[in-house]
Amino acid sequence: MSTERGFLVRLACAGLLATAFAVPVHAQEAECTQCHGGLLAKAFVHEAVSKGCSTCHAPLDESVKPHKVAGDFRSRLATDSAALCAKCHPKEHFQGPVTHGPVAAGNCLACHNPHASDHQGLLRKEPATLCLDCHPDVKKRPHVIVGFSSNGHPLGDEKRSKEVFDPLRPGKKFYCAACHEPHRSERPRLARFDKGMKSCQGCHKK
Ligand code: HEC
Ligand code: HEC
Ligand code: HEC
Ligand code: HEC
Ligand code: HEC
Ligand code: HEC
Ligand code: HEC
Repeated sequence: MSTERGFLVRLACAGLLATAFAVPVHAQEAECTQCHGGLLAKAFVHEAVSKGCSTCHAPLDESVKPHKVAGDFRSRLATDSAALCAKCHPKEHFQGPVTHGPVAAGNCLACHNPHASDHQGLLRKEPATLCLDCHPDVKKRPHVIVGFSSNGHPLGDEKRSKEVFDPLRPGKKFYCAACHEPHRSERPRLARFDKGMKSCQGCHKK
């Protein structure tokens, strides 16, 4: 367990490096990827996959299609998906004074692909689109800085010639999650910062 923790910490420190390179697939799982390799052919592969498909899926007989399985859960999972994620991602990180609706419901898969993704954070969709699909009202009025600018604050969904990066999360694309915590927060509206001008100055130094 303690080596596992050390492993996690090192990975967290390696940050971008850890996610930017394809993760080598567990030797015993090479067979699975002969047919299911497409699941992993994305820019970012979930580190959990390197520990093998059976980390999350119930034992199955891959020589039979449909596979004969021992599991009771959707997609032949070893357990229900929220409990699955909690095996490696501590529950406390997803509970707070304010907890995001789909997170409180244990629906990690509403936003994340469990295997791999072309988007940062293993997100299912282009980041701002992911948020706006469930929050279409946010586009209907100027956001946050009415009074400073009648257009409101850029949201990260604007078409730009080059990507805009988050000033406070190095290497991450700028979008809703620059200002909102996606899972839980100490503050109303899942805010990362306290309200007021000071919050602006974190990113707009002057
Ligand atoms: C971190 C846990 C995890 C690991 C590791 C994992 N899977 Fe999955 N897999 C899931 C979950 C969760 C789903 C259900 C996805 C859903 O319902 O949206 C799933 C669904 C699937 C599906 C159904 C199609 C789909 O995309 O939903 C296939 C096929 C599959 N996994 C194959 C594999 C193979 C092959 C491996 C090893 C290379 C693997 N999985 C490793 C969690 C995992
Ligand atoms: C020879 C090709 C082949 C191999 C090898 C193979 N699969 Fe599959 N797998 C399929 C096909 C085709 C389907 C879709 C038909 C079905 O549902 O069984 C599938 C479906 C699945 C599903 C989805 C089942 C569901 O109910 O949604 C999972 C999970 C899965 N495979 C996991 C694995 C794992 C883990 C391995 C390695 C132990 C593996 N497969 C090896 C061809 C293969
Ligand atoms: C066997 C352990 C394990 C399981 C089970 C697991 N993960 Fe992970 N996950 C990891 C490791 C290791 C990392 C890389 C270190 C980190 O970012 O915490 C990671 C990273 C992630 C990341 C960040 C990826 C990035 O590029 O920033 C997301 C998102 C994620 N996991 C979601 C999930 C979800 C959703 C589930 C349940 C379907 C799940 N994980 C189940 C081990 C696991
Ligand atoms: C409403 C969408 C949403 C749901 C639901 C969700 N996440 Fe996330 N998650 C995100 C976003 C957005 C990020 C940040 C991605 C980025 O920009 O790098 C993230 C990041 C992560 C990371 C990387 C470390 C971090 O905190 O930034 C992990 C691990 C993770 N999520 C696991 C989970 C697990 C486990 C669940 C279910 C308990 C879950 N997520 C539910 C949206 C979601
Ligand atoms: C699967 C749908 C879904 C997705 C995707 C989603 N949300 Fe939510 N969000 C909800 C639900 C449900 C609530 C709780 C309902 C409510 O309080 O209005 C909520 C509440 C919120 C709140 C608090 C609203 C308030 O008035 O207190 C904020 C802020 C928020 N979401 C931001 C985001 C951001 C940022 C993203 C993208 C990282 C995102 N949401 C993605 C469903 C979603
Ligand atoms: C520059 C920082 C910033 C960005 C970027 C940002 N928000 Fe917000 N958002 C805020 C603040 C601050 C509030 C709280 C306003 C208040 O307390 O009345 C807020 C409020 C909200 C609310 C609560 C209801 C409402 O409309 O006022 C939702 C939902 C929300 N944001 C979603 C999003 C989504 C989705 C995105 C990306 C498309 C996004 N936000 C981008 C700072 C931001
Ligand atoms: C998390 C970092 C962050 C926070 C907090 C933040 N901003 Fe921004 N802001 C940015 C980024 C990044 C851009 C550039 C976005 C783009 O080009 O798409 C931007 C753009 C702007 C613009 C438009 C400038 C232009 O040239 O289009 C204004 C005005 C602005 N911010 C004001 C504010 C105010 C006022 C606050 C506090 C309520 C605030 N910002 C909080 C990161 C932030």
